[in-house]
Amino acid sequence: MSEQPTSGACEPQQVFDPRDFRNALGTFPTGVTVVTMVTPEGVPVGLTCNSFSSVSLSPALVLWSLSLRSPNLSNFLQAPHFAINILAADQRDVSQRFAQSIANKFEGVDQVTGKLGLPLIANAAAHLECRNETRYYSGDHVIFIGHVLHYAYRQCQPLLFCSGRYATMEREGDAT
Ligand SMILES: Cc1cc2nc3c(=O)[nH]c(=O)nc-3n(C[C@H](O)[C@H](O)[C@H](O)COP(=O)(O)O)c2cc1C
Repeated sequence: MSEQPTSGACEPQQVFDPRDFRNALGTFPTGVTVVTMVTPEGVPVGLTCNSFSSVSLSPALVLWSLSLRSPNLSNFLQAPHFAINILAADQRDVSQRFAQSIANKFEGVDQVTGKLGLPLIANAAAHLECRNETRYYSGDHVIFIGHVLHYAYRQCQPLLFCSGRYATMEREGDAT
C-alpha cells in the first residue's frame, strides 16, 4: 500500500517549515554537478549543485542557482565564465567534497584545464564551459544563466540524487 502524502503550507500567514518544503522538492530526482570557476588570482572555486537545468538549445543556455549564503557568491557574481561538471556515478566522493565549505576543495581531485582556462573535474560525464550571461536574484538564491561556449561528454552512468541520497540508474530505457 502506498504511503499517505505529507502536506505543507506555503502561505505567508500559515506556519511554513522550509526543511519540510525541501523534503518535498527532494522527491524530484536530479543529476549532480560541480560548478567551477577560477578567480582572477588563479584560485579554483567549486561547489556541488543539483539545481542545474537546461534552458535553451539555440542559443545553448543552462541555469543553476546559488544560495545567497554561499561564501563564493561574490566570486560567481564576478566570474566571466563558469563550468558545469556533470558527475558520473563513481564520483560520489567528489560530490561530497565539493558540498563542504572547506579550503583546498580541489586537493586530491583529478582535474583538467578547459578551453576557457576553467578547472574541470576529470572523468565527469560532461563538461559545459559557459559565459556567465545573466543573473536573477530570486528569494534566497541567485539564478545564473550560462551561455555554453564549449562542451564535451562521454557515455557513462550519471550520478543521481533524490530525497537526500545518492543513487545510480538501475536500468535505462528509451523515452517514448
Ligand atoms: C547533492 C547536492 C546538491 C546541492 N545543490 C546546491 C545548489 O544547487 N545550490 C547551492 O547553493 N548549494 C547546493 N548544495 C550545497 C552546496 O554544495 C554546499 O552548501 C557547499 O558547501 C557550498 O560550497 P561553498 O560553501 O564553498 O560555497 C548542494 C549540495 C548537495 C550535496
